Amino acid sequence: MCGIIGYVGERAALPILSTGLANLEYRGYDSAGVALTGDELTIYKKSGEVSALQGILPESTEHTRGIGHTRWSTHGPPTDENAHPHTDCTGRVAVVHNGIIENYDAIRAELPEHTFTSDTDTEVIPHLIERELDDGAEPRAAVEAALERLEGTYGLVVTVAGVDELYATRRDSPLVVGHGDDGTFIGSDVTAFLEHTRDVTYLEDDDFAVIDDDGLAVYRDGEAVDPAVKRLEYEADAAEKSGYDHYMLKEINEQPRALRQTISGRIDLEGGTAEIDVDLPTPYLESIEEIQVVACGTSYYAGRYAAGILESAVDVRTTVEVASEYEFDGGRDPWRTLVVAVTQSGETADTLSAVRRANRAGARTLAVTNTLGSTVVRETDDSVFIRAGPEIGVAATKTFASQVATLALLSVDIGRTRGSLPYDEAVDLLGSVRQLPNAVQSVLDAEDRVKAAALEYADSDAFFFIGRRLGRPVALEGALKLKEISYDHAEGFAAGELKHGPLALVTERTPVLALLTDGARPDETRNNVKEVQARGAPVVAVTTDDGDAGSGTSEFDTELTVPPIGALEPLVANVYWQLFAYHVANEKGRSIDRPRNLAKSVTVE
Ligand code: AGP
Repeated sequence: MCGIIGYVGERAALPILSTGLANLEYRGYDSAGVALTGDELTIYKKSGEVSALQGILPESTEHTRGIGHTRWSTHGPPTDENAHPHTDCTGRVAVVHNGIIENYDAIRAELPEHTFTSDTDTEVIPHLIERELDDGAEPRAAVEAALERLEGTYGLVVTVAGVDELYATRRDSPLVVGHGDDGTFIGSDVTAFLEHTRDVTYLEDDDFAVIDDDGLAVYRDGEAVDPAVKRLEYEADAAEKSGYDHYMLKEINEQPRALRQTISGRIDLEGGTAEIDVDLPTPYLESIEEIQVVACGTSYYAGRYAAGILESAVDVRTTVEVASEYEFDGGRDPWRTLVVAVTQSGETADTLSAVRRANRAGARTLAVTNTLGSTVVRETDDSVFIRAGPEIGVAATKTFASQVATLALLSVDIGRTRGSLPYDEAVDLLGSVRQLPNAVQSVLDAEDRVKAAALEYADSDAFFFIGRRLGRPVALEGALKLKEISYDHAEGFAAGELKHGPLALVTERTPVLALLTDGARPDETRNNVKEVQARGAPVVAVTTDDGDAGSGTSEFDTELTVPPIGALEPLVANVYWQLFAYHVANEKGRSIDRPRNLAKSVTVE
């Protein structure tokens, strides 16, 4: 996720763009830039936070139109060169872009005579426009022709030197236009310009928008349309949260989009492979005898989930260690051990310390992270980016889903390279990953049911989460989420372990949240559910939708379902546990986005 702002009007553009970028910084903050439009384009770009860009901007300029961007890296590290806006060879076309251009490699190959100056996927867009201009197209037609070539997701705005119009379009990435008294604004969300106007038009996928001194014109399938103007009632703070009461709830709801971004361009279903740009050499991958996953908290549970997939796909022993407990010992051969550090922030001190231990031992290290340019990326041999977009809420939600999805793709990649994962199984797993965004959406659509259960049991003495196989890390993660934000006692157990001790804690005041999806040994867990029901505990269960849901014959107090998508069903079910935790905590008025005693990034050991 990145932030976009654009302005055309009577006022000086630079302060509007600069303030808009500062407002958008919550969407991404590893580099920023602006392009001011006149007979030539004037461009300022800088890696780092928006304040770093502001440090190099002049006091004022005469320009009354321009575009700006604050970046959260997906392709290429956060450097000045990779900051947006990106330009063509001549510097007369500039583009800001959110999303991922999936076919950028192919487009680059089509433009051998063009000089590219960044590692980004975005840069192909101004070069495509340049080619059209060189072929004699008018600017608007040149932009439209270039858009025809793009595959992937995008919200983008284009400016061309000497041209009064800004051009914008979107696909799966929001753009909104603001109608002010003295100018027209465009942003990736309304926080970009909310202090200037509350009258807005939301663009739809594939709309082609033209913004000039006359305001906004929108073309849909080539025809001019009259788009609706809506008056916003909410304040800037709510706008940053897209109208949600908390970042956590916003981020839970963002999961389908985050997952689409995670997997975008990485699945080759026909070929039965995943393409996630890991540079580990094939002879090395063929030689490994062990994979060690190191991580903390939610990332540790993501690692435990993924280990179940990795081990069978890659066919080597896969261990998962809490990073603060990690030692490179036990007679392991460093040359044959791959150490995978899973960390959303890339800055967790315990995880970095584990990576340093592995590096010292001579093992090869791989980071799986959401943060390009973070310390873990610098200190590991290679890294894979989960592309979930910035996560503001302290409770990790969308990053957990994107971590597991990325690690599932890594499993396919390594498994296919080693020849340990048969084609059919790879296709099954890839199919499961591909269905994740829609499956998660179906859970979000059923929020009312899990919310009702959360409100019914919010005052319980404690909460127990149980599951088997891939359901077990989800039980642990569900309990962590609940205790973290509600401050209630919650524990996750392997379902079979209940009767070996924890059952003594079970009463009618301790709801049990059970994961019974197909593949997570649901029949055995059903026995454990009966044990807790015999002690009076209410049961909230997630099962795989077999078509009977809602028939009124459930054996559980609340039965929630997930679509049948195979190995990743427990990951989908986890979204119910996120919503359950959220609604319990919200009912109690907790500080959901900043729970007491916790920090988003834990940089001490
Ligand atoms: C989870 O909700 C927590 N915020 C916490 O457990 C977190 O996952 C852990 O601190 C690891 O963070 P990282 O992924 O940034 O390394």
